[in-house]
Amino acid sequence: MSSQDIPEENLPAQQGHAHGAVDVADEKNPFADPGLPPHEHRIQDIDEQAARRSERAVALLFTVSMLATVGFIVSYVTVPHDRSIYVFPIGHVSALNFALGVTLGLALFCIGAGAVHWARTLMSDVEIADERHPIEASPELRAKVHEDFRQGAKESAIGRRKLIRNTMLGALTLVPLSGLMLLRDLGPLPGTSLRHTLWSKGKLLVNMNTNEPLRPEDVAVGSLTFAKPEGLEEHDEDFQKEIAKAALMIVRLQPDNIKDKRELEWSHEGIVAYSKICTHVGCPISLYEQQTHHVLCPCHQSTFDLSDGARVIFGPAGHALPQLRIGVNDEGYLEALGDFEEPVGPAFWERG
Ligand code: FES
Repeated sequence: MSSQDIPEENLPAQQGHAHGAVDVADEKNPFADPGLPPHEHRIQDIDEQAARRSERAVALLFTVSMLATVGFIVSYVTVPHDRSIYVFPIGHVSALNFALGVTLGLALFCIGAGAVHWARTLMSDVEIADERHPIEASPELRAKVHEDFRQGAKESAIGRRKLIRNTMLGALTLVPLSGLMLLRDLGPLPGTSLRHTLWSKGKLLVNMNTNEPLRPEDVAVGSLTFAKPEGLEEHDEDFQKEIAKAALMIVRLQPDNIKDKRELEWSHEGIVAYSKICTHVGCPISLYEQQTHHVLCPCHQSTFDLSDGARVIFGPAGHALPQLRIGVNDEGYLEALGDFEEPVGPAFWERG
């Protein structure tokens, strides 16, 4: 139904001529103002049943938003983070991420759609011509803005349409809970876990490339071998967290070339094991120069002397690399003789 089909007496009163409009061109206003096109009344303006239907639609959208937010929270608490599902056409995705994305997206979409539908069908539908004005806001203008705001609030009928107001308030109150729930990921506090790695007495040194336990004869002079603790596998849930602390560099030196007494005591037949994590900002060290026994961090070129307790000889790193004390077990495999004696990585101990 259009406004042309509606009896004249049912139509809301037309607005008067816009302020400042002129019908005929004159010297001061060389162009005649064509004025506003005829106003098309919406069905909701003249049919209370249609207005009620729109009201219920808006309320339904806000209600769906509330349910979606509840679904977000329930998903966050109940869906295991390691479960994956197949979603066409994306493929396999994390079930938790999918559930969180869908529910939060739906909650936000329904709030937006509800607000748009409310504005388009139920709020004031009067065309207003506003004259250009200086950018600087005068006290009168500010007063007008306040008055317009009050008028807008009145015209939105937020006080009269209690169903919309209450469901909107419910949706807007619940949706921030999604953000609050995510704060749970800030915890728990790490406690002393940053001071310890997976290394402990008797843990075998496993070659990161072959996944085989290392024997002394596997480590040639001049080579650089990377090792991880026995039992830590790439598919483990906390692999990245643990390897970031436990990764080792294994190098064989001539015992006569080792200048640091403690380094020599903690080595086995010249084989030394050092943390692979740079003490500057934690890059993995990967370059070894066998002639000088220097290792170089590729990030900011910190250089450590492995023949002298891995002390820093160049670059921004503030500390020597932590050394792991190693030996050989009864079966001839390289093993750790304990954990690192200081936290690995970037200057953590300065804050602890
Ligand atoms: S992280 Fe190694 S030098 Fe910066």
